[in-house]
Amino acid sequence: MESRTDKGIGGSRQAAPPRQRGVFRTKSVEQSIADTEEPQHGLRKELSAVDLIVYGVGVIVGTGIFVVTGTVAKQYAGPATALAFVAAAAVCALAGLCYAEFASTVPVAGSAYTFSYASIGELPAWIIGWDLVLELALGAAVVAGGWSGYVANLLSHFGIDVPASLSHQPGHFGFDILAAALVLVLTGIVMAGMKLSARVTGLVVAVKVTVVLIVIFAGLFFITGSNYTPFLPHSQPNTGSGSHLHAPLVQTMFGFTPSSFGVMGIFSAAAVVFFAFIGFDIVATAAEETKNPQRDMPRGIIGSLVICTTLYVAVSLVVTGMQKYSQLDTSAPLATAFKSVDAPFWSGLISFGAAVGLTSVVMILLLGQTRVFFAMSRDGLLPRAFSQVHPKYGTPYRTTVLLGVVVALIAGFFTVGELEEMVNIGTLFAFVVVAIGVIVLRRTRPDLPRAFRAPWVPVLPIVSVGASLWLMINLSLETWLRFAVWMVVGLVVYFGYGRSHSRLARGRDAAGGPGFGAAPKRW
Ligand code: ALA
Repeated sequence: MESRTDKGIGGSRQAAPPRQRGVFRTKSVEQSIADTEEPQHGLRKELSAVDLIVYGVGVIVGTGIFVVTGTVAKQYAGPATALAFVAAAAVCALAGLCYAEFASTVPVAGSAYTFSYASIGELPAWIIGWDLVLELALGAAVVAGGWSGYVANLLSHFGIDVPASLSHQPGHFGFDILAAALVLVLTGIVMAGMKLSARVTGLVVAVKVTVVLIVIFAGLFFITGSNYTPFLPHSQPNTGSGSHLHAPLVQTMFGFTPSSFGVMGIFSAAAVVFFAFIGFDIVATAAEETKNPQRDMPRGIIGSLVICTTLYVAVSLVVTGMQKYSQLDTSAPLATAFKSVDAPFWSGLISFGAAVGLTSVVMILLLGQTRVFFAMSRDGLLPRAFSQVHPKYGTPYRTTVLLGVVVALIAGFFTVGELEEMVNIGTLFAFVVVAIGVIVLRRTRPDLPRAFRAPWVPVLPIVSVGASLWLMINLSLETWLRFAVWMVVGLVVYFGYGRSHSRLARGRDAAGGPGFGAAPKRW
């Protein structure tokens, strides 16, 4: 095996090409890989392709299918919600191929953040790392809130009511104690190491998938054909205060009256049910902990996406066939659909499955966030102390604990509805940057070995950028404004801290390094 490290560090003594100085300096792919070999800053390599698929399904199937399906069918697309899932899946598949290529080329922790650092430059990488907080940390808080709702529902079956001050109930201010407690417990599991996390996840995923299959096969017997008419309800205008703020940006951009349903309703629905797919990209964040990332990464990402899309389309068709879309419940639609056809046993079982299933989603989102912070800290863009790995557990424990506490507080104070679209816009933005990164890296580093090559580059990544942007502009104006504020705060943090503390800025692994023209073999 040829040493990557020597050549990578050797690169630090070479002058950086002028176009790569400053905030667009890039970290060479060799250096990204070599960093994982530092004893105090490396993660254990233990995961296989099957582990990755389990992780993928574990994080993908969650609040989206158990909760959002009902809201979207009722508000945007009726039975055509199944088409919205297909549209969202197409966007994810395009992005997934880009993620798979990047993850198999740069198999180190940090996902889109690392990919961007190796291709576009430090500032875009920082922006992406900051943006991923929306997907991962905020996503964990949102799903914990959904979990808490289901658990409160289950507890009420046993005569236990959570007080209003310790939950989120309409018209009351409360701290959601169940959501916060879940986040803290899962933080402990994540800190204890990948092996334990993978085992717990495997069990939870098995329960969750079984319950989803029960919904599909038991539900088939309760479908009433007339519920599918109309399959795509006619467009209806939305009126009332704040309707422009809550309407999709695309309607405001083109001066349309804010409306729901109709063909545009499918896209509004797709932008919202997109939440149900979030997580497949997180498989890529575990690249550094994968035994054979070049082979297993693409399998893990695409495999989990295919399984989930099939389940979603089937579930949405069954549920809208069981109950008229306008009657669907918005907090526990799957369970309620079974109640509506007098099948309370299935209803209870589904509630239980949802409560179990959502735990793995929260856990893997937390895990993904710790790995992104880990990578950012290792690069000096965040304090270096956060990338210290625990001597016994082999995990970045400081980052994990700090993150767990912050996410628990967010989950306690905010509701699902307040944060969900922010998670979508953050994730879609990451997709855009990753697709651009694939094109850039193909041009700047055509020599790099790529175990998985996305087909039809640059056409496919360009279509991926367009598709992700399309879903983004189908999110509300309000969400765009919040997103803009978050990004401005991120820029302030970068120029106040990361820019001067960056390891690249301090002369470590100057941009371009050995990579331009003389890339070493990776193994
Ligand atoms: N895809 C995840 C869910 O639906 C985030 O809960």
